[in-house]
Amino acid sequence: MIQSIINHFIISLTKLLPLSFVRMIAGRYVAGEKQPDALQIVEELNNKGYSVTIDILGEHSKTSATAQAVTEQYINLYKFIQVKNLDCNISIKPTHLGLDMGMKCAQDNILSLLNAAEETNNFLRIDMENSAVTDDTIALYHKCRENYSNVGTVLQAYLYRSENDLKILSQDSNFNFRLCKGIYRENADIAIQDRHKINANFITLLRLAFENNIYIAIATHDLYLLETAYELIATLNIPSDQFEFQVLYGVPMSGWLQKHLQNGYKVRVYVPFGNDWYDYSLRRLKENPNIARYVLKNMIRR
Ligand code: FDA
Repeated sequence: MIQSIINHFIISLTKLLPLSFVRMIAGRYVAGEKQPDALQIVEELNNKGYSVTIDILGEHSKTSATAQAVTEQYINLYKFIQVKNLDCNISIKPTHLGLDMGMKCAQDNILSLLNAAEETNNFLRIDMENSAVTDDTIALYHKCRENYSNVGTVLQAYLYRSENDLKILSQDSNFNFRLCKGIYRENADIAIQDRHKINANFITLLRLAFENNIYIAIATHDLYLLETAYELIATLNIPSDQFEFQVLYGVPMSGWLQKHLQNGYKVRVYVPFGNDWYDYSLRRLKENPNIARYVLKNMIRR
């Protein structure tokens, strides 16, 4: 009870937290500000047996020139990944690549990025942002699929629409998606609010993907969902090349990552980097206010 009051207090105060404190949180969840820092971490994760998806932090680019510069940075990243022979693909946010300037801007950038992905034998994941851009994101994904196969997107278990989206998208047997709960604050008329019901929908979508032989990236740290995924994999006899587990860099998983690897399951770590670490760290803090306690404890110990 006291713990939940403290957590509520931390969430409501996040914007007032000192920069140095947020920077300490970023130290745990963000792989540095510069590309070489991030690639170093990718290499270390690869050496431990994990695949990676890398993301340059940022969203809602305000001009076409900014969105194009971000695209160039990503294209460059694909080249480095190839040269360094890393097991690492890329995740992008459509608004970072220009969606706020219109579909054409985002589409041009994403298609040139996909071209670079194809040339370097790599893959692009289009992250899902808030519900204002769900339709556009799915439309962008469809556009990409007209000419490319090395692309996938994300569905969020908290949206009522996701089951129908999955049914439509699964008509393409090459559909490849990441399933997550969803991070944005959405209205009750479009999004499930109850945590147990979000979990129930996550399992419905997971089962649907498994039963339709659709490749799924199971992106959760929720141990109940992981247990359930293991049960479904066993009862439905799902081959290990039909799914992977995904986690965010820095989130403690109490032995589950090793367990996945021992079972021969692929684990991909989502590694964000870049200057825009402040908002990302606050999002992580809101997800788990206990982080504030860990950081404080470490500060006191020092
Ligand atoms: P939940 O939030 O219930 O967390 C389960 C447990 O995990 C918690 O009790 C806590 O112990 C631990 N935990 C969770 N977050 C933690 C943290 N930050 N630090 C420490 N412990 C933590 N969302 C979206 O809308 N669009 C997207 O494209 C993506 N992409 C994406 C990729 C990947 C690889 C992951 C793992 C997640 C996303 N998400 C996302 C975020 C996702 O929607 C969701 O908000 C978070 O993963 C948290 O949900 P969980 O399923 O982990 O459950």
